[in-house]
Amino acid sequence: VPALVLDNIGALVTCDPTLGDGALGVVRDAALVIEDGRVAAIAQAGAPADERLDIGGRCALPGFVDSHTHLVFAGDRAEEFAARMAGAAYAAGGIRTTVAATNAASDSDLRALTAARRREGLRAGITHLEIKSGYALTVDGEARLCRLASELTDDVTFLGAHVVPTEYADRADDYVALVCDGMLTACRPHARWIDVFCERGAFDPDQSRAVLEAGRDAGLGLRIHAAQLEPGLGVQLAVELDAASVDHCTYLSDADVEALAGSRTVATFLPATDFATRQPYPDARRVIDAGGAVAVATNTNPGSSYTTSMSFCIALAVRDLRMTLEEAVLAATVGGALALRRSDVGRLAPGCRADVVVLDAPSPAHLAYRPGVPLIAATIAGGVLEHADPALIELG
Ligand code: NIG
Repeated sequence: VPALVLDNIGALVTCDPTLGDGALGVVRDAALVIEDGRVAAIAQAGAPADERLDIGGRCALPGFVDSHTHLVFAGDRAEEFAARMAGAAYAAGGIRTTVAATNAASDSDLRALTAARRREGLRAGITHLEIKSGYALTVDGEARLCRLASELTDDVTFLGAHVVPTEYADRADDYVALVCDGMLTACRPHARWIDVFCERGAFDPDQSRAVLEAGRDAGLGLRIHAAQLEPGLGVQLAVELDAASVDHCTYLSDADVEALAGSRTVATFLPATDFATRQPYPDARRVIDAGGAVAVATNTNPGSSYTTSMSFCIALAVRDLRMTLEEAVLAATVGGALALRRSDVGRLAPGCRADVVVLDAPSPAHLAYRPGVPLIAATIAGGVLEHADPALIELG
C-alpha cells in the first residue's frame, strides 16, 4: 500500500500530453500515488493508501517551477517603486541600494529573510526555484549569497555580473576580470549556473560574453538577462553560446525571435517586472508561433518585481503577453523546468518529483480568470505537504 495518495482529483493536470487530454495532459477523477517523494503512478480516484489527502474534486497541477529569482537580499525599495509609479524610470543602478543593505546584514538575518520568502513562495505553489546571487558584488559576499542560496535549492546562479559596484565605477573591465577569476572560483562550489545582466547601465555584450565564457569554462551552465529595457545583442549572444535561458525578452527583434526559434535557449518572460517598471509587455506569441520554447518566472527581487505570485505572472502572461491559458500554465511548470534543463520537475509523470499544487478551483484557467484570488489550497513538494489551507484540505 503506497504511503500517500492524493485522492479525488477532479482534474489532474499532468503537463504531459502523453498522459491525458490536450496540451496539458488532463486526467479526470484521478488519484496520484506518491512514494519516496516521487510520483509512483496515476490511478483512478479511490486507490488504496496508508495516508490519503482528499482534495474534494479540485484541480491539481505540477508545482510551479520558478526559474528566475533573486531571493537572497536585505531591505526593500518601496520608495523607488513609489517614485516610479509617479513617473521615474527604472534603471539598473537601483541594484546598488540593495547591495548596501545586503552586505550590512548578518548571515542569520539574511538566512531568515530568504527562508521567509521561500515560505511565501511555497504558499503560492512554487515547489522548485532558481536563486541568483548578485547583491554583494565582492568575492566573499557573492560566495556567501551563493552558499545561503544553496541551502534552499540546487539551482543556484552566480550573478556577480549584476551591476558594476561603486568602487569600480571607472574600471568596469577590472570588475569583469574579478568576476571571471577570483569571484568565479569562490562561487563555483555552490553554483550550477552563471548569469550576467547584459543591458545599458550594467554590462555590454563583450563584457557579457567574457563572463559567460569564463563560467562555461569553469563548468557552469549559462543564463543571461537581456532586452529588459531596450533591444540589444544579448538574446543572440545567449543563442550563440547555447545558454539554457535568456530572461526578460521585453524587446525582441525579428532576428532575435528567429534565433530563439532555431535554438535550445528558452525565452523566459518576467511579466511582473514589466508590470512593476511600467515597461511595455512583450508579445510571447511571436516566439511561440515561431516555434521557440518559453517560460514564465516571477523574478522575485526588491527592485523590479517584488512578488512571489506565479498566479499573478500567469494572469499577466495570458492577458498581456497573449499566451493561451494552457501555454501560460505550461510556461510556469514544464517551461521553467526546460529553462533549468531538468526533466524531474514541472510534470506529474511517474518518476517525477511529487511536486503538486492543489487549486481551490475546478480548472487551471481560474489562475488567470480569477486574478489576485489566493487559489492555492495546498502545496506538496517532494511528497511532503508544505502548505495546506485547513479549511479546505484535511489529511486523513
Ligand atoms: O531581473 N535586471 C536585473 N536584475 C533584476 C533587478 C534587480 C534590482 O532592480 O534590484 C531583474 O529585474
